[in-house]
Amino acid sequence: MTKRVYNFNPGPSTLPLDVLKKLQVDLLDFENTGMSIMEISHRSPEYDKVHNDTIALTKELMGLDDTYKVLFVGGGASTQFAYIPMNFLHKGEVGAYVDTGTWSAKAIKEVKILGKEVHLAGSSKDDGYTFIPQPDEIDFPIDAAYLHITTNNTIKGTQYHKLPNTGNVPLIADMSSDILSHQIDFSKFSMIYAGAQKNLGPSGVTMIVMKESMLDKIEDGIPTMIDYRTHATKNSLFNTAPTLPIYIVKLVLEWIKDQGGLSTVETINRTKKDIIYGLIDEYPEYFHGPVRKDSRSWMNVVFRLPSEDLEQKLVAEAKSAGFIGLKGHRSVGGIRVSLYNAMTLEGAEKVADFMMNFKKNN
Ligand SMILES: Cc1ncc(COP(=O)(O)O)c(C=O)c1O
Repeated sequence: MTKRVYNFNPGPSTLPLDVLKKLQVDLLDFENTGMSIMEISHRSPEYDKVHNDTIALTKELMGLDDTYKVLFVGGGASTQFAYIPMNFLHKGEVGAYVDTGTWSAKAIKEVKILGKEVHLAGSSKDDGYTFIPQPDEIDFPIDAAYLHITTNNTIKGTQYHKLPNTGNVPLIADMSSDILSHQIDFSKFSMIYAGAQKNLGPSGVTMIVMKESMLDKIEDGIPTMIDYRTHATKNSLFNTAPTLPIYIVKLVLEWIKDQGGLSTVETINRTKKDIIYGLIDEYPEYFHGPVRKDSRSWMNVVFRLPSEDLEQKLVAEAKSAGFIGLKGHRSVGGIRVSLYNAMTLEGAEKVADFMMNFKKNN
């Protein structure tokens, strides 16, 4: 029998078993072509259907209409940190950013490298990024080019549970680590982007969901591949698209839909995070969670044990017991339990049992 572990890696992360099995079959003969999806042209009718179905499924799951464009590009979410100001932040304008951790800070850094103006609309840096500023703590000029947020902070374990109201200022979100994990009003966003490798599929493709009207704001003079209009007008097929990752995204979206869509996914994710936060709430001296309760991430639960030695011991023993990827990010240490969509309820229950036993023995 094939060995599978409980994989809590923060990204790339576990994929649904059903998706991997389907992929395994499709790899030798995709829909009677006698080839894998990797081996056929990105301009073939077979791939074209995959591509357009993936776009349609994305909009369906997000409840978005045709005023939104779905784009697939390479370069990871990190590339978008620079592309956003290059496309949307013009001379004399400010880009407003909320700084809630490593990824927000990296996004801000790119704007500064470009010599463009950043307005810090809110920050939890002085408190070690342990919370998300609430809507009334976020402020920005009414003529800002956009407000950028990171909806889930993968490293610090925080997540927005209330979105800022931005009025006419476009809201742009890095949703890399919580996209499609719960029900939200996606139409509040003018642009959403996410590296696929946590909740959507493998690494190698970045999903961008953009209000079509945003394209009107772009000015000429940007290199072709950086100009969002290139990808929007060519349906993300201006150049060779990352066809295999996009195909796997399609399988993951179908898997979400087959379960009953985002409401089912949300229910399961809620139960999973309640199980792990239950440990923190019940035994705060042993499982110490630094994150403020109203800002807790459902996707990445972070906590410390009484000592670093115990943390190392837990990670090592967990690995032997078949629980992989529980080590906190190297910049913060501690333990991180990543509970993306593809992590099963059983996985969350089993790892919680493991932690309780570890506590008893240590
Ligand atoms: C919230 C967030 N944004 C951006 C990134 C960077 O993504 P990529 O590696 O696709 O550039 C990550 C990676 O973990 C992330 O968690």
